[in-house]
Amino acid sequence: MKILSIETSCDETAMSIINFKSKTKFHIISDLVVSQIDIHKKYGGVYPKLAKREHISNIFPIFIASLKKAKLLKKRKINKKISEKEKKKLKKIFNYDKNNLELIIDFYTKYKKPNINYLSVTYGPGLEMALWTGFNFARAISFLFHITLIPVNHMEGHIFSTLIKKEKRNQFKISKFQKPALALLISGGHTELQLIKNNGKYQKIGGTLDDAVGEAYDKVARLIGLEYPGGPQISKLSVMKKEKINIQLPRPMLHKDNFNFSFSGLKTSVIYLVKAQKKINLKFKKELASEFENAVSEVLIKKTLKAIKKYNIKTLIIGGGVSANDRLRADFKNTCSQNNIDLFLSEKKYTGDNALMIAIAGHQRILNNNFPKKINKVNGNLNL
Ligand code: KG4
Ligand code: ZN
Repeated sequence: MKILSIETSCDETAMSIINFKSKTKFHIISDLVVSQIDIHKKYGGVYPKLAKREHISNIFPIFIASLKKAKLLKKRKINKKISEKEKKKLKKIFNYDKNNLELIIDFYTKYKKPNINYLSVTYGPGLEMALWTGFNFARAISFLFHITLIPVNHMEGHIFSTLIKKEKRNQFKISKFQKPALALLISGGHTELQLIKNNGKYQKIGGTLDDAVGEAYDKVARLIGLEYPGGPQISKLSVMKKEKINIQLPRPMLHKDNFNFSFSGLKTSVIYLVKAQKKINLKFKKELASEFENAVSEVLIKKTLKAIKKYNIKTLIIGGGVSANDRLRADFKNTCSQNNIDLFLSEKKYTGDNALMIAIAGHQRILNNNFPKKINKVNGNLNL
């Protein structure tokens, strides 16, 4: 079963083509990501209008490159004429995106139906302006070539990306995990604890009341003059031992009797510290980054552990861009081995946004015939 998947929820235009050999084994035929980070750097964060413009100009070239790589780009012997009815529907789908409308029509007239069984696409959560590009593109291909569309939740994608295990060169499998299982999702837009139920259902037991942890990393980085995305920059600077740090940051919500988080207070404390500091030198930056990571790690670990104990959790899954963080990876590995918990983390190259995770989450939904059939719009605030 071949799935083409599309992800455009934030600042990465990603597309992959996966061939599932069985319920758990697959080959990656093509897996492309075009990052916009360099474009957004200037603005210190993701600028939605710009993200949309970039997705619009990237998506068709990535589609062609993916098909080529997968050897699925086949010319028709005779050009096919598109009907007025089809044209009308496409115009409705693409709305103001005339460029991709024309490109798709041209593709349809010249190329055969790609040998793909399903299309899976992110329809939320994320930046709506960005989501629409991938979603509309997938809808257009689905409509023209009669390929079933599987709308996928981006956060479910992050969960599945932790289960990818490489077997041989291009051969992968999806790991099984024991239940009850808990997912800690940490990204630029999310910080939440989700119990993984049966039949693709989740129960949110806690989340951030203000900033997401990735957002806190990005904001604090900016305060000390580091480039976007701030997570990897802070991580590089965070090298000081606890005993040598003179700065003290709060541990928000640590002792509250729930599973919620709050990270905006950390950022506010950093604002005061920076204001009081005469010179933002390297020593100060290192100390601040180290103490910031101490605070983040302590709060995330203690709250997650509390949930693990309360719900008798056997497996912890940590997904999302922030799960690339070395300090958190090391601390969670320790905690889980001390508490006899199975831990799943994505390989570093799959912690960030990618389309592979959208194909795998989509595949799971196909196997269980449990995907939304009538979605006609994206949802920036989509819940799991
Ligand atoms: O999942 P993701 O790629 O996009 C969203 O869906 O939001 O997450 C992006 C976030 C950014 O805030 C970025 O600073 C953070 O992940 N991040 C990190 C690291 N790498 C990326 N945070 C801490 N340490 C890292 N190594
Ligand atoms: Zn993400």
